[in-house]
Amino acid sequence: MGGTGFAADLFAGRTVLVTGARSGIGAAVARGLLACGARVLAHTGRQEAGPDDDLFAGLAPDAPRPETFAADLAADGAAEALAAAIIARTDRLDGLINNAGTMLGRVAADAVDAAQFAKVVDLNARSAVLLTAGLLPLLRASGDAAIVNTVSISARTGGSPGSSLYSAAKAFVATWTRSLAKELAPDGIRVNAVSPGTIMTDFHRRYSTPEKLDATARQIPLARLGTPDDCTAAYLYLASPKLSGYVTGQTIEVNGGQLLA
Ligand SMILES: NC(=O)c1ccc[n+]([C@@H]2O[C@H](COP(=O)([O-])OP(=O)(O)OC[C@H]3O[C@@H](n4cnc5c(N)ncnc54)[C@H](OP(=O)(O)O)[C@@H]3O)[C@@H](O)[C@H]2O)c1
Repeated sequence: MGGTGFAADLFAGRTVLVTGARSGIGAAVARGLLACGARVLAHTGRQEAGPDDDLFAGLAPDAPRPETFAADLAADGAAEALAAAIIARTDRLDGLINNAGTMLGRVAADAVDAAQFAKVVDLNARSAVLLTAGLLPLLRASGDAAIVNTVSISARTGGSPGSSLYSAAKAFVATWTRSLAKELAPDGIRVNAVSPGTIMTDFHRRYSTPEKLDATARQIPLARLGTPDDCTAAYLYLASPKLSGYVTGQTIEVNGGQLLA
């Protein structure tokens, strides 16, 4: 076993790119893929990861390491440039985990302006669309590639006050996932999504108060907030053609029962 509950060779011979992998959910997924034998290309975030970042947590000194790339995906041209950097590094991509994103602050409905709208949508939706478009030749070359997009429970619930742009951007990605699943099926590319509930990462340390998180935890049937490691198995399942080869256009909700519908 690769420490994830999955076989240590589940991703042997497969190359997978994870975006937003410096911390939180992306870091856990990247570590899980490494533990299962993948060659991992890790987009760390706006900056390179340091040795103390989650991405490298628990990695033995002699274990295979992720190959890292940094890019501010909210910036014009950044997703295209990242795609070009990946194309320069590999001639085939078996998995693409579009995970980079964040709320970029809570903004009241009457304080929203065009710049804020562009920033949130560019990071959370546009970057995934353009990165995926740029990497399609590599994904087609795989023959059985998988794209897994990180959406959010808020795409369905609308989130909480101040998160309207972020929640709607994630809903865009959820619908885009289903559209791409149909369009790319003839290329042997499956497209699915993971929808985390309330997962304790930098995201909530930045945008939610401890009181709000306590109240949320009390309403979750499994009676606790989630962890990045709680999310890993859903990504690995959807990324593996051995495990989910007949699954496309779907979203797995990982939320302790926070949303049941
Ligand atoms: N935590 C939750 O409860 C929750 C729930 C639903 C969905 N999600 C989604 O899950 C994904 C991962 O979030 P997380 O909770 O693991 O939080 P996180 O630890 O803050 O991770 C977010 C990742 O996205 C990167 N990122 C943020 N802004 C970026 C930018 N402008 N350009 C490039 N990369 C950027 C971050 O890197 P830098 O900050 O170093 O740039 C980091 O690697 C996000 O898409 C988030 O929206 C989280």
